[in-house]
Amino acid sequence: MTSRLAVSRLDLGDFRCYARLRLDIGAGPVVLTGPNGAGKTNLLEALSLLTLEPACAGPSWAKWPAMCRRQTMAVYGPGRSARSLIRPTGNIRSDRGWTRKPCGRDGSAGRLKLMARPSGGEAALGRVCAAVWLTPQMDRLFLDGPSARRRFLDRLVFGLDPDHSGRVAAFEHGLRSRAKLLKAGKVDDKWLNAIEDSMVRHGIAVVVARADLLERLVRAGTMAIGAFPAARLALAGDLENWLEKLPAVEVEDRMRAALRDGRTRDAMYGGAAVGPQRSDLMVWHEAKNQPAAQCSTGEQKALLLSIVMANTRLQSRARGAGPLLLLDEVVAHLDAERRGDLFDEIVALGVQAWMTGTDRALFDGLIGRAQFFRVEDARVSPEMI
Ligand SMILES: Nc1ncnc2c1ncn2[C@@H]1O[C@H](COP(=O)(O)OP(=O)(O)OP(=O)(O)O)[C@@H](O)[C@H]1O
Ligand SMILES: [Mg+2]
Repeated sequence: MTSRLAVSRLDLGDFRCYARLRLDIGAGPVVLTGPNGAGKTNLLEALSLLTLEPACAGPSWAKWPAMCRRQTMAVYGPGRSARSLIRPTGNIRSDRGWTRKPCGRDGSAGRLKLMARPSGGEAALGRVCAAVWLTPQMDRLFLDGPSARRRFLDRLVFGLDPDHSGRVAAFEHGLRSRAKLLKAGKVDDKWLNAIEDSMVRHGIAVVVARADLLERLVRAGTMAIGAFPAARLALAGDLENWLEKLPAVEVEDRMRAALRDGRTRDAMYGGAAVGPQRSDLMVWHEAKNQPAAQCSTGEQKALLLSIVMANTRLQSRARGAGPLLLLDEVVAHLDAERRGDLFDEIVALGVQAWMTGTDRALFDGLIGRAQFFRVEDARVSPEMI
């Protein structure tokens, strides 16, 4: 049976601008509209805590306390008897781990209780919940540097392969440890070799997992939907090139040699000349055969949404449950035709998509197919349409 991940109740206490909020929601798409500063993005950020890399907390969870002062948030899964899906408690950095208790008699998806956000067990959280989010800042994804694109891609991989976060973290840990040793001028060959071995193992695994996701995205079916253009995707980087031509063991040897040979240079300039931190996600508008960076603002947004929707289809198939979609300011830059196609696709995907905007009229195409809420001054009320 295909279940869907949907939030049926959201309780916030002293979370950002919300002193108190209790919101009951049905399983379908949700539209939140209201003036600037009303609290729309804050709501999505609360829900983004269900993802491995929340929109609001950086790679470490350091910003959590600032974000929700008393740290109370409960998200309920489908079925009113379901207990909280996620309830962060206490010190997030403490290693209290997490417990997973199927609460429903049928153990259906969403009937789980997470006692604390895991400090080390992100992969475990990823196995339970999945959410994909788009923020207005990501409108610049194709224009900014490659690191944002790598993060974007890695988030897509996390959604299907929760172990990916462990690989990325292990590689980055190796990169930092090596840089520290090199900077300190300590050339302990044995130690450096061991660190570089780990970087090789994890670095190649990261690149392979990214490439695997791209292949699966293509196989997930045509990316083009109505007015949404198909995106052609490719990975660029030394490791990617080597993996195309050479057997994996030879790639390992090459990377190990490149790291060893690059020690003097890396000691001076930092970083490492080879590794997944050097890769870039290349995106083209397929029909126009044009790099995404040269496309118009609306076309770039449409390409980004094409990728996200293809990924949502893929996740729904692979996990048997679609992720939550958190789409902040989603209709900005989209013309009426693209808005219409986006709404049709979201409804067809059957996921709970949370969409925000300042102008309710732009969501008219969803009347009768979504739940509308008015957000004003940190209060959320159902809108009768
Ligand atoms: N930690 C916090 N504590 C209290 N208030 C906060 C905190 N962080 C942000 N805010 C405030 O919450 C309010 C709502 O912000 P939010 O970003 O959710 O607005 P929005 O409805 O998305 O507006 P816009 O349409 O401009 O994007 C803002 O006035 C902001 O300053
Ligand atoms: Mg906002």
